[in-house]
Order: sequence, then structure tokens, then C-alpha cells
Amino acid sequence: MLKFEKNDYTIEEVTLCGETIRFRAFRDLIYVEKPVNEEFQKMNLFVPECYYEGASLHGYDLGSAPVFMPNTVGGYMPGPADEPGTNPFLQGRPNTIFRALQHGYVVASPAIRGRVQKGADGRYNGKAPSCVVDYKAAVRYLHFFADELPGDASKIITNGTSAGGALSSLMGSTGNHPDYEPYLQALGAADAGDNVFAASCYCPITNLEHADMAYEWEFCGVNDFHRANMKMDEGGRPVFTPVDGEMTKEQILVSAEEKAMFPAYVNSLGLKDENGDPLTLDADGEGSLKEYVKRVVMESAQRASDQGVDLSDKPWLIVENGKVQGMDFTAYVKDITRMKTAPAFDALDLESPENDLFGNETTNCRHFTEYSTAHTKAQGACAEAEVVKMMNPMEYILDEKAEKAQHFRIRHGECDRDTSLVISAMLTAKLREAGCEVDYRSPWNTPHAGDYDLDELFAWIDGICG
Ligand code: DHB
Repeated sequence: MLKFEKNDYTIEEVTLCGETIRFRAFRDLIYVEKPVNEEFQKMNLFVPECYYEGASLHGYDLGSAPVFMPNTVGGYMPGPADEPGTNPFLQGRPNTIFRALQHGYVVASPAIRGRVQKGADGRYNGKAPSCVVDYKAAVRYLHFFADELPGDASKIITNGTSAGGALSSLMGSTGNHPDYEPYLQALGAADAGDNVFAASCYCPITNLEHADMAYEWEFCGVNDFHRANMKMDEGGRPVFTPVDGEMTKEQILVSAEEKAMFPAYVNSLGLKDENGDPLTLDADGEGSLKEYVKRVVMESAQRASDQGVDLSDKPWLIVENGKVQGMDFTAYVKDITRMKTAPAFDALDLESPENDLFGNETTNCRHFTEYSTAHTKAQGACAEAEVVKMMNPMEYILDEKAEKAQHFRIRHGECDRDTSLVISAMLTAKLREAGCEVDYRSPWNTPHAGDYDLDELFAWIDGICG
């Protein structure tokens, strides 16, 4: 039986940078009846303590506060339930949960299984689609106990970055869809909906089975790559080691072949812009969708310029009298540089995080595209089409059986090279076509990152909840 004990809590205080929050903590709420991983299929719930004293924050109270539901998934690895505390990337400054509580949200922080986990029987149990299934099960728990829980369960807002941003986009696009039902049933998830009110998605690493071709559409022609491997040191601080190189002749050939496949995919989507005009690409990868992506980058530059940022070190921008008039896309891509070799996601040697995500109980890594399956260097098998589909929001947005969030906020940094900018642009266009409201921007000079603009994120949440 699923349980929520409303008297099983602690009242706590955390002080950071001279600011104190007092909150009520309900920890380790197991969100499924039959967990396959007890350490992970649970969540923490935090509530501003002043709500129990009758006070309100930003107009919210115990019954009306939105339920902010950030995940901690990165790289499709396990994402533990989090705590109000410090952000390891921000030199001890308050983290997102601290700031959300301070702002007056109820915060639900679910743990979510990841691709490397195994059960006692030695079988993997965190491969796709378990991450999205766990997130859904946690939302079902919140809906199931809505009458007893603090906050307004009709105002659940998911949030995540990168793989976590992809999961948030899935939560917003696939509410209550029957595809996930057998997985939720097997876990004994609550008999309730898994639809959410809004989804905040930072640089979503999504649409994985088309991300290789999208990446080469953007980066083909740039053959040197530059990235940094990250490790946490003993003090829990990130340490970066640079990895630079040149793609091999074979990878350069793959790049051209992947790029050539992208227009047919794009044109099959029937995407439209805000005015209803088609977003397409010709065989060379030129066309209205490319102009749309350029506009996203140029609007980013214009906002930066309006705030006083000097753009003179960006010769690829055409600026006249303080107005961004055009851009050289090829020079822009050279400037931000390539991070990944081709194919960027479905690696021919099965060594990418996504190959690992698409493993199954007994096989650690598998392919998930036709191209890489055909060109495998590791005799890799291919994941089932149904599983690949369940990880792709694009497949559900126009499906009437999927309840969509009414509001999305998508941020994809202007110099992000973890996935092509066109991935979030296509996601945005499709969501708008389905009638969802999408606040979409590419923040200037921003790499692959998230939660960097919490004041604006919270203002957006307050706006849609008001
Ligand atoms: C993440 C980053 C990647 O480049 C990727 O391929 C998958 C996930 C991440 O940061 O979550």
C-alpha cells in the first residue's frame, strides 16, 4: 500500500549566504508499491514552514502553492532525491530547492533510476524507459494523495537540465499516455494521472534517434572537436580535463551521410512557424528551418546587445546601428566549436551514454538508430522501436491520447554543443502546433547548463499560476 503519513516530518532550518529558510521535510516517500530499487523509487517533499502558521509567500499558501518538481538526472544516470542546500557548481551558493522554498513553492524531489543500475539478480533495472516511468510514478503519487499533501497538485511543474530537461519535456508531452501503463502497473504506481501543468526544460538532450543527423546538419564541415571530461574531486568539486582532437576520415564521411539524412526527417514532421509558414530544409540543409534557428540565435544576440554586451568579438554577426541584421551560420558554428565526433549519440562502438541508456536487463549497450545499427563496429543490437519512441516527446505531441502540459519553458544556450540547437527549435515548433504555450529562448553566451536564471524561471511560474 502506498502511504503518506502527514505527521511523519521534521521541521528544519538551513542558512546559506546569510539567508535562512525554515521548512517542513517529508523524506523517503516511496512512490510505488512494488519498487525494483527501494533506494531510488522514493521522493522528498519540502514545504515552507510558515504555511503551517497561516502565512503566505508571494501570494501562495499551504493549499495554493505550486508544486515545483525538479529532477537531478544528468547523463541519463541515476538522479538521487535532493535537499535544500548548496550548489556544487556555484561555490557554496544556495541550490534550486533552497531558492524554490524561499520563493514559496512546495518542492517535490523524486529520485529517478538511471542507466547503470542493477538489481540483486545482476540484471540492469534502470535502462530506458525507467527514468521517465519513475518520474511519472512520482507524479501519480502526488495526484493520488492530493487532498492530504501540501500545495496544489493541479500545478505541478517539472524541471530539469540536459537528460533531466529531456525527462521534463517528456513529462509535459506524454501525460497519461497508455504506452507507459504496463511499466507503471508492474511497479504498482498509484491509480492516478501522471499529467503535469507545466514543464521547464533546460537544454533537453532529446529526440535521440534523430540527434545524430541534427548534430551533423549543424556541425558538418567542422572537423576538430573540443570537450572537457568532468570528474568530482574528493571535496565534491568538479574538475575538468580538456580533450581535443580531429575527426578521422571515416568520421568525416559519417558526418556527411548523417547530415544528408536530416532534411527528409525534418520535412516529414510538417513543422510550422508562429505564422503557420512551413519549416523545411532542402537537400543541402538550407531553408526556412535554418532561417528559424538563425533567428533564435540573432534574437539572443540582440537581447545581449540591448543589455550592453559588446558583440564586436563575434564577426559572424552582422550588426548595424545596434541592430542584429544577419548572421553567418557556418562561421557561428566554427566559433562555438564541435564537441562530439560523428555519430554524436548512437556511437558505432556503443560507447556513448545513450547507447547505455538503450540497453536492456541483460545487454548493457545497444544502438537506437538504423544508421548506426547498420554500421556497428561492436556487433551491437538495436533497441526496440517502442522503447526508443517512449523516450521521444516528438512522437507524442500530436497524439490525442497524450495529455500535454499547457505551458513549457525551454532554454537552450547559444553556445551549447551537446546537442544541436535545432533539436529544441523542432520541439518548440511541434508543441506550439499542438496548442501548448512555449516560452523558448537561447540565452546568449550560455553553454550546456541549467537553473542559471531562477529569478526569471520563478517569474514565469508565477505568471502561469497567477
Ligand atoms: C547529458 C549530456 C550529453 O552530452 C549527453 O549526450 C547526454 C546527457 C547531460 O548532461 O545530461
